[in-house]
Amino acid sequence: MPYDFAINDGPAFRLPSTPRTGDFARMNDATNAQSLFRQRLDQIAADTESLLDRLLGPAPLAEELARPQRLMDAMRYVALGGGKRLRPFLAVETAALFKAPRERALMAGAALECVHCYSLAHDDLPAMDNDDLRRGRPTAHKKFDEATAILAGDGLLTLAFDILARPETHPSSAVRAELVLALARGAGLGGMVGGQMLDLAAEGRFDGKTERLGATDVKLLQSMKTGALLRFGCLAGAILGEATAKERDALDRYGSALGEAFQIADDLLDVEGDAATVGKATGKDAAVNKGTFVSVLGLAQAKSRLQALVDEAEQALSVFGRDADVLKMAARFVAERKT
Ligand code: IPE
Ligand code: IPE
Ligand code: MG
Ligand code: MG
Ligand code: MG
Repeated sequence: MPYDFAINDGPAFRLPSTPRTGDFARMNDATNAQSLFRQRLDQIAADTESLLDRLLGPAPLAEELARPQRLMDAMRYVALGGGKRLRPFLAVETAALFKAPRERALMAGAALECVHCYSLAHDDLPAMDNDDLRRGRPTAHKKFDEATAILAGDGLLTLAFDILARPETHPSSAVRAELVLALARGAGLGGMVGGQMLDLAAEGRFDGKTERLGATDVKLLQSMKTGALLRFGCLAGAILGEATAKERDALDRYGSALGEAFQIADDLLDVEGDAATVGKATGKDAAVNKGTFVSVLGLAQAKSRLQALVDEAEQALSVFGRDADVLKMAARFVAERKT
């Protein structure tokens, strides 16, 4: 059954910092498992919010000359006060599988969220998707102006790598370098930014062609524009946890399936959701000929592919046993989400 996952309105108790083996084993009731998942997501969202608030504080850091107020206000607007924080959740919960310190995973998650929030601010610009509503509020260029929204995105992207490079994220410089490299690969030319290029090209805006993409093209486009960052969340946990090759491969497969499922759900919400609930404009993808699974497969087949991907994501986690139950719940959440 679909359920509502409002963020940050759960009872105010703190969960253990890492999931204990058996937390879920004691819960054979699906409703309880869902509510435990929601508690964990809410807690990680709240912790990410306070961490980002601190990272975007007013005091200039070493080597910084000043933090211009308008730019900081815009970066804070884009990064704080909204979002499901699913990407930090993935970093924290995958790191928890290896009992890696939670504070480090929160740093990696905050870096990832900075890249994600920047990608949203740029995605909404008039030159990109031209949207006025994001997370139920005016988009960054509406609230400020286009130049400020572009610079806020640039600032958040750069901050992400600043965060990963800090010893607070991991004492080993080799581990930090691995995180930096993995995020760069997920965010850049062959990842999110590249996927955004393919997304715009699919509209026919560069060559005027409007023939539909095939399913293989859409899969590549989506795994780049959306999948790559979600996958990094899982990879970050594996890197911080110094996972074995087998464990890393399992998380990679989970992250890839989850990423594809996530974008299919987003495309379904564009067709079936309403802006008031989703917090952003809906009904826009078909109008501009976006390359989506809904456009190539139709609604019914897109939904069955979504279910198959949730199963695939769950199966990928079998190597972790019951410890991975919360990540399995996350795959269901991604498919059934209403926002
Ligand atoms: C929206 O991502 C953009 C896509 C990649 C589809 P989310 O749905 O995770 O957005 P927030 O962070 O919760 O607002
Ligand atoms: C955006 O995909 C993915 C990003 C890299 C931001 P969409 O354009 O479908 O995301 P929404 O629907 O605006 O959130
Ligand atoms: Mg877009
Ligand atoms: Mg968009
Ligand atoms: Mg969308």
